[in-house]
Amino acid sequence: MNFKLLIGLLFCGIAFASAESYEGYKVYDINAKNVFEKEFLFQLSKDEKYDFFHLPKQIGTPSRVLVEPNDQYELENLLNKFGIQYIVIDENFGESVQAERMQNALMRSLSSGQRISFNSFQRFDDINAYLDQLAKSYPSRVSVKTVGKSYEGRNMKTITITNGDGVQNKKVIFVDAGIHAREWIAPAGALYIINQLVENYAANANLLKTYDWVVLPVVNPDGYEYSHVASRNWRKTRKPVTSSCAGTDGNRNFDFHWGEVGASTLSCADTFRGQAAFSEPETQIVRDIMHSLTGRAKMYLTLHSYGNYLLYPWGYTSALPATWRDMDEVAQAGANAIKAATGTKYTVGSSTNVLYAAAGGSDDYAHASAGIPISITMELPAGGSGFNPSTSQITPFCSETWIGIKAMAEKVIEKY
Ligand code: ARG
Ligand code: ZN
Repeated sequence: MNFKLLIGLLFCGIAFASAESYEGYKVYDINAKNVFEKEFLFQLSKDEKYDFFHLPKQIGTPSRVLVEPNDQYELENLLNKFGIQYIVIDENFGESVQAERMQNALMRSLSSGQRISFNSFQRFDDINAYLDQLAKSYPSRVSVKTVGKSYEGRNMKTITITNGDGVQNKKVIFVDAGIHAREWIAPAGALYIINQLVENYAANANLLKTYDWVVLPVVNPDGYEYSHVASRNWRKTRKPVTSSCAGTDGNRNFDFHWGEVGASTLSCADTFRGQAAFSEPETQIVRDIMHSLTGRAKMYLTLHSYGNYLLYPWGYTSALPATWRDMDEVAQAGANAIKAATGTKYTVGSSTNVLYAAAGGSDDYAHASAGIPISITMELPAGGSGFNPSTSQITPFCSETWIGIKAMAEKVIEKY
């Protein structure tokens, strides 16, 4: 073992000594066979002690939940009593988190010195440093702007990528990622887009002829960092709400049918809607970017994980927007391109109809309030028990995702 590596791993042990251990937590896949069993799981999910990673309303797609040791007996008992099938897919989430941490530290130390690496998950400072470096190295095609500060004071930056022809006010594709902290593959996906458009420009010049791209790679940097150093499974922002609980679900905090469905009023819940619409500085920042691009922005794409979905509005109702066919066409282009390239299947549809109803999402707001014609939430694939793909999966996941994004962008460029 080389010296740098050893120091890296030692440091990792010290730095994370105070992190939440998740020792003995189990991850269950629960297979509801009918609407009654599904409804039962929906009721269960309202109890904060169950951390549902995935709770799709489709019958046949299992739900996944993380449960701490003290609550496992009760859950298993309940499921057994009602005859609901389940399996344990991770016997000790704590061990998985620790293994992931070691692997990430190791890969990180091996690739230090590079501009950007897709061999490990990047920390927020590294991501910002990469953006700044690109602006410096490619001044004619790239500009970086600080668009505000997160609650804890982190500088949030967008990168605007052009082809350098100097033409102003082109149409725009706006991409963000990482509104949910634990979905680490999403910011990695955004970085991959940036990397392709800037450093592999020649191959992607067609995407920048009549369009500029604006990317905000980490919407929720406080949560993202918190999930790295303290609590791997953190989802929300970090602004305190009550004395006992912090954090708002950013994707329930947008002011369009805010709080009407699929969002909690309880501050401790993982889907807490916030004390008011746009109570979070981070969601205000996304809102302001959207409005600053109104008229120019033709597509808003927001990256999440997991589940392989390409979702469009509405999230607040099962009704569809008037122009849903346009969004469906774009999303299908993405799904088809991925299917053809790797065989990976994506489910396409409105988020209420194929996943679940949840109001206050950024996608609904982008379409309804910022007037962006194409608004899509992309749920990248699961790795590990869901949010924790191995470091070796980052590159294949991101390159596959990029194939879909490219196809969607090409469709948008052709249509608008
Ligand atoms: N998994 C995402 C979430 O729960 C899906 C969001 C889909 N969009 C929506 N407006 N509900 O935030
Ligand atoms: Zn998400």
